[in-house]
Amino acid sequence: MILEIEKYGSEKLRRPARKVAVTPELVALAESMLETMYKAKGVGLAAEQVGRDEALCVIDVPLSCEDDEETKAFNARTTQPLVLFNPEIVTASGEQTGREGCLSLPNVGGDVTRPSEVTVQYLDAKGVPQMATVRGFLARAVCHETDHLKGILYVDHMDEKSREKVIKKLQKKK
Ligand code: NI
Repeated sequence: MILEIEKYGSEKLRRPARKVAVTPELVALAESMLETMYKAKGVGLAAEQVGRDEALCVIDVPLSCEDDEETKAFNARTTQPLVLFNPEIVTASGEQTGREGCLSLPNVGGDVTRPSEVTVQYLDAKGVPQMATVRGFLARAVCHETDHLKGILYVDHMDEKSREKVIKKLQKKK
């Protein structure tokens, strides 16, 4: 089922998510979120963005989005799409600065600095605890989506001037 995506300005994007137990209903929600994400040509989507408050996000970053062969090979160890319930970044290292976008702020983007490698702990769609260590753009996506579950948007990481520029552009496109 295609879900409606909350846009910048919606209070629903600012609520911290609540931890959940994995239920068939939430697995079905995750499937709809993936469907919605693919249709919108996104690489990640958090439950907040479809008006929910569960700690759940989905991610599918094609390996072709990664800058180099080493990162591609590293991330290939992690099976995607990722369905992450109660995700928490447990370790982060390095630094990378690159362009980011968000389905809740359509048609705009901006540079954000993120860790270059993160380890995320989560429950999978079967409710089994898992850990994944990822790099590059996939690490960026994990940071971006776990931020959503705290009510944080990527523009919050930008300096005021850059953020204003993005928001202005966003309002122009409306
Ligand atoms: Ni987003």
